[in-house]
Amino acid sequence: MKKTIAVLQGDGVGKEVTKSAVKVLESIGKRFDHSFRIQSALIGGEAIDQTGEPLPKETLAVCEKSDAILLGAVGGPKWDHNPSALRPEKGLLAIRKHFGLFANLRPVKAVPEMMDASPLKEHLVKEVDMMIVRELTGGLYFGEPKRKTANGAVDTLTYSRKEIERIVEKAFELARLRKGKVTSVDKANVLESSKLWREVVEEKKSYYPDIEVEHILVDAAAMKLITQPSSFDVIVTENLFGDILSDEASVITGSLGMLPSSSIREDGFGLYEPVHGSAPDIAGLNIANPSAAILSAAMMLKYSFGLEKEAAAVEEAVYSVYKDGYCTTDIQKTGHRVLSTTAFTD
Ligand code: NAI
Ligand code: MG
Repeated sequence: MKKTIAVLQGDGVGKEVTKSAVKVLESIGKRFDHSFRIQSALIGGEAIDQTGEPLPKETLAVCEKSDAILLGAVGGPKWDHNPSALRPEKGLLAIRKHFGLFANLRPVKAVPEMMDASPLKEHLVKEVDMMIVRELTGGLYFGEPKRKTANGAVDTLTYSRKEIERIVEKAFELARLRKGKVTSVDKANVLESSKLWREVVEEKKSYYPDIEVEHILVDAAAMKLITQPSSFDVIVTENLFGDILSDEASVITGSLGMLPSSSIREDGFGLYEPVHGSAPDIAGLNIANPSAAILSAAMMLKYSFGLEKEAAAVEEAVYSVYKDGYCTTDIQKTGHRVLSTTAFTD
């Protein structure tokens, strides 16, 4: 298979961890006989410094000619006081919007050896393997009107049936590649948009008779994520609920340095990036955990290129490093040897 991948390293540790991910992709290419052509481009703070824009046109052109995008992270104290048009995050929001990446996928999977790092008890978390599917381009964050009023402020939560259908379908498709269960999270006892959401899930269910479906209210879901996290497979929910629940779920397994993500659209085109930011406190020290970036590349292989065997090989390689008694500074354990970013990657 021949694929072109746009690599946007971004700022801080983004530069270090994307190098790791690219190295792993190159090695997968060799082992499985694929050719991955890497095209680098600027985004974020460095793009602002070099071109005056957080998402230069040349970068969009590179992405448009690619089959998927791999991103590091953007931002850092250097640009914190820039006016809003010249903020690194603007580049990230703009690229998601430009490509219509409406489905944000965040898997959370326990590495059994490293569950000391979890704030929860080991027996609760050691079997955790879930995927949060958050609607990313609709809902409360985008609904109009959205403004201050004479005596208050207003935000609007709207969803079209089509917007709900496409994200729900994505969740069902993902469940088929996983454990076959979809948990739809809403607030259907109060919100009209949630009633419609639940209706759509019920309609779609008949097309996926092999998938188990449950509905759960968002407040109950927040509790169950802590009390029974291993009961979930795919969780699908709207933008705001997904924002909150995915951050809650991300701490279950212990370290930000472990968590990959992707934002995709119907045709499988997507942007893959670690959940963490540019980590200015450790940037340039060669100590960042590259797992999140490498696992993001594995998601790209699986979800954008359909290379499941190759994706599984990458995941297994990452988990085997921990199994063999190694780790990085962010997820230390007695008896484990702490490796640098580059040593971990090798
Ligand atoms: P952060 O995720 O960069 O760092 C939070 C803490 O986790 C830090 O102590 C950091 O050292 C540690 N950490 C993060 N990734 C790590 C890794 N791979 N290995 C080891 N330790 C790791 O979040 P923070 O500090 O709030 O933000 C720093 C900058 O990153 C800000 O400018 C922020 O706007 C930006 N940011 C960018 C994101 C993106 O590009 N998607 C997401 C979140 C923040
Ligand atoms: Mg958030």
